[in-house]
Amino acid sequence: MELEVSHAVAGESRSAGAGEMLIAGSRVEHAALAAELMARAILEATQKRGVARVALSGGSTPADAYRHLASLDLPWSQIEWFWVDERAVPPDHERSNYTSARRDLLLDRAEIPADRVHRMEGEDEDLGAAAERYERLLRRTFGVASAVSFDVMTLGVGDDGHTASLFPNTGGVLVEDRLVLAVAAQPEKGLEARLTLTSPVLCEAALALVLVRGATKRNVVAKARSGGPEDDVPSRVFRRIKGRLVWLLDHDATG
Ligand code: 6PG
Repeated sequence: MELEVSHAVAGESRSAGAGEMLIAGSRVEHAALAAELMARAILEATQKRGVARVALSGGSTPADAYRHLASLDLPWSQIEWFWVDERAVPPDHERSNYTSARRDLLLDRAEIPADRVHRMEGEDEDLGAAAERYERLLRRTFGVASAVSFDVMTLGVGDDGHTASLFPNTGGVLVEDRLVLAVAAQPEKGLEARLTLTSPVLCEAALALVLVRGATKRNVVAKARSGGPEDDVPSRVFRRIKGRLVWLLDHDATG
């Protein structure tokens, strides 16, 4: 099934060191290109294995892409939805990544079985226990001996260089012995506690789609794509991604 791709999606493409870099000419193109890349990977996985497993990041950037994806004709009942990270808030809270993605992707629609939507339980008073439960879910889903390799994973880059909820100078990006981590609040930065997938899961993604927009991200994108300690700039972890890494930026976010 060919996706309807307008001329607007023909983003500019540049070869790049770590992964591919696509530069969209507008906010609309950025969303359309992201949705098309996600849709193609989803279709490939469902045609190959009957199921596509998608891990969603939160934040503001992906919203347009999720809304565009929701408008496409996809095998919705064959997609399983997971989260890359979640804030320690109730599932109906405005800062919940689950709430945002559920709204933007219309995950409540009839063709999406509720048992295919796997939110992280950020509201749990014991985030460590919630992290362990999510890890068990991932193990059940992907198999104990297999890699936890999502077919599609959306990722962002925070102004401080974080990705997922792996924040600078916390050691979070260095954790390799768990799939899911409970992250302490950082009140001095106005950050609530979090749950997050860890680097081993990020690095196993078959398609890691890094969505970045805006001039405020220009410097941190350059730092992330340069060498240096990952704990200083956790989004440097993208350089270890084994699958297809696509940086999808707008012109403002590029040097
Ligand atoms: C979150 C996200 C986080 C996000 C970056 C970028 O829970 O906040 O998962 O990692 O991707 O903070 O966010 P923006 O897209 O809003 O810049």
